[in-house]
Amino acid sequence: MFCFRLVAPVTKLRQAAALQRDRISKQQSAFARLRLLFQFTRLRNYRLSMQALILAGGKGTRLRPLTVYTPKPIVPICNRPFLLYQIDTLRRAGITDITLSLSYQPSKIEQLLGDGSDFGVKLKYTVEPQPMGTAGAYKYAEDLIREPTVVFNGDILTDLDLKAVIREHNDRKASATVVLTPVDNPQSYGLVETEADGRIRRFLEKPKADEITCNTINAGTYILEPKILDFIPAGENYSFEYGLFPDLLNRKEPFFAHIPNRVYWIDIGTPERYLQVHADLLSNSVGRIHIKERRGQFDSATVAEIDELSMIGDDCQIKPGAQIINSVLGQGCFVEERARVENSVIWPHTRIGTTAQVSGAIVGRGCHIGRSAIVGPGSVLGDKTSLTDYTITGVQST
Ligand code: GDD
Ligand code: MG
Repeated sequence: MFCFRLVAPVTKLRQAAALQRDRISKQQSAFARLRLLFQFTRLRNYRLSMQALILAGGKGTRLRPLTVYTPKPIVPICNRPFLLYQIDTLRRAGITDITLSLSYQPSKIEQLLGDGSDFGVKLKYTVEPQPMGTAGAYKYAEDLIREPTVVFNGDILTDLDLKAVIREHNDRKASATVVLTPVDNPQSYGLVETEADGRIRRFLEKPKADEITCNTINAGTYILEPKILDFIPAGENYSFEYGLFPDLLNRKEPFFAHIPNRVYWIDIGTPERYLQVHADLLSNSVGRIHIKERRGQFDSATVAEIDELSMIGDDCQIKPGAQIINSVLGQGCFVEERARVENSVIWPHTRIGTTAQVSGAIVGRGCHIGRSAIVGPGSVLGDKTSLTDYTITGVQST
């Protein structure tokens, strides 16, 4: 009896202890799993917290005369300096450590963007004594580069999901990843052929018509591991497109393409594409990028016509009978009686004279378009252009 009484609690105690051990081990494994998940997330986030370099040193020759006084990286796109769109893309991906690689009119860019605090990022600058080429510019910024780096051509507008590119780059343990995009004619771009597993097979910059083998091109967005810097010669002009990328293939480095699904992409570097990006933004067809305010504080006669798509900057004056259709007016523009502006971009402080017609044109800052002048499709007027009354420019419809 005595024995039985003693044995029963001992058995119960043992069972309880076993249960407890089981519970603890379950808790521990749950805890261990959580810890692993936490470490993995931290690792992923760490790898996401890259830095960025924007190549913004080109002269923007194809956008002349607009780029004579305004370097291409800060030409206004819907009344906002272009680089702010790229800064938004980087910030959305959690990248705030951004270096701007400058060469042409650097002080105008620095003055406008400062240390980046107004835009929620930290900006640093490198200024090349003379243009070092795209890869040479990356090498020139070497002292500021500690981590894998997102490199942007400073003239690409895209609504790309950058986090997805970074994840794929990390998963593949790539030395370099180039984002690709399809275009109708690759001749003005860098053609990129890929293997089925996403590796890059061939890189051919500005192919001739008979060299075109596919429609995918370099979209001007790269993820580069810092070790790549060792492959770039110091102190000389060197290009990603003609130099480093073919070299990575020769070295058999893990060099991959990221081909996103259906993204908006455009290089803004020619007048046609500069107008195109405005048309796309005004019609709200740029995927994840939307313009916020179409109307600033401005004066308009009640009998003037401003369509819903158009964007009007602060301090503009629009007189009776004027028409603004599918166009952007920068700050402080003056549109006189019965003038018509259509499918055009007008930079700040420009005056369009009575009954003048501007269509499919880009008009620089501080211009004066005389009375009844006709500025037709294809016209690109540099800052401070003055057209005397009745001037006719651009392609005229018959
Ligand atoms: N800092 C610096 N120094 N930047 C430069 C230099 C330089 O010497 N040269 C060019 N850049 C910048 C330009 O400001 C521009 O933002 C970017 O590098 C690319 O130069 P572009 O002159 O615009 O080249 P592209 O448009 O003919 O061709 C490039 O972009 C295509 C996509 O639009 C190439 O990368 C092609 O392979 C690509 O398809
Ligand atoms: Mg370009």
